[in-house]
Amino acid sequence: MKIVTGAFGYIGRYITQYLLDRGEEVRTITTHPDKPNPFGHLVKSCKYDFENPEMLIGHLRGADTLYNTYWIRFPRDHLTFESAVRNTEVLFSCASAAGIRRIVHISVTTASVDSPLPYYRGKGEQEALLAKCGLDYSIVRPTLVFGKEDILVNNIAWLIRHFPFFPLFGDGKYKIQPVDVQDLARIAVEASRFPTGTITDAVGPESFTFDQFVALIIEALGSRCRPVRISPTLGIGFGKLIGLAVGDILLTSDELRGLMSNLLISDQNPNGVVRFSEWLKEHRDLLGATYSSEVRRHFRWRRVD
Ligand SMILES: NC(=O)c1ccc[n+]([C@@H]2O[C@H](COP(=O)([O-])OP(=O)(O)OC[C@H]3O[C@@H](n4cnc5c(N)ncnc54)[C@H](OP(=O)(O)O)[C@@H]3O)[C@@H](O)[C@H]2O)c1
Repeated sequence: MKIVTGAFGYIGRYITQYLLDRGEEVRTITTHPDKPNPFGHLVKSCKYDFENPEMLIGHLRGADTLYNTYWIRFPRDHLTFESAVRNTEVLFSCASAAGIRRIVHISVTTASVDSPLPYYRGKGEQEALLAKCGLDYSIVRPTLVFGKEDILVNNIAWLIRHFPFFPLFGDGKYKIQPVDVQDLARIAVEASRFPTGTITDAVGPESFTFDQFVALIIEALGSRCRPVRISPTLGIGFGKLIGLAVGDILLTSDELRGLMSNLLISDQNPNGVVRFSEWLKEHRDLLGATYSSEVRRHFRWRRVD
């Protein structure tokens, strides 16, 4: 049996589907076990309880592989990057106690304990925990992940649909190399068979400068929105205003600085096959049609029966 954290979330959902399609039995651990379960009786859900390791060990027992997606996009309420790292440590030690043999961990390109950006530093600290936990492990580091349930690309498209101009931070010449979420799921499952300690980037076949990326989306949507260059500081201010209006955090400063520092690219050969430009043509009617809220997804989610 395989455990996938966050099977009702974004990347975890695709890893789960990929495993189910190959006849694997899957259980999930999630923040919201009462969210609609797209897999029905095929996937049993359990709740993360980092304060109760015995319970967590029980959720993990019987599985051989843990696919870990657990992380936060930004600190909020009592949950900080530091506490998310501590929770990850609890999860990994419970995995060891439960007899898990291998952890496949979803990280991010250029994660590093030395990063000045707290998001990337926390991801580096998660990776460092793996090396200490005594289990076999593989690390998969995606760039920007596109797919139907994605938040960032969707909300870029939402802005393009709703505003006459799109804020291009700085010169717009920094690069991104987006990877398809289904490609990422395949790469993660393949990584479960790699020698322990292997780090693999998950990288799409196309790379764009950010201004090219925005222009491509504008063209695909048939929008009259115009990219306008603004300073990063003004960009963050604009993002905060929109965030206030929609009750969300549109873009974090770590995301902006990571993007502008070319952290969402890789020098590895692409292992993703889906081209963003092709995917965009197929999904242009739905992309950005509604705003995707991280806050609603994780903090204000309520079941409506
Ligand atoms: N999305 C991207 O473009 C991208 C790019 C590079 C790397 N990554 C990495 O890929 C991994 C998965 O990302 P994802 O986009 O698929 O995330 P996700 O579905 O939003 O979350 C993954 C897991 O973390 C839990 N989680 C997220 N935010 C939380 C919060 N504030 N409080 C408590 N639990 C929280 C989720 O809870 P639920 O079970 O309730 O959903 C889920 O179990 C992360 O480690 C991320 O760093 C993502």
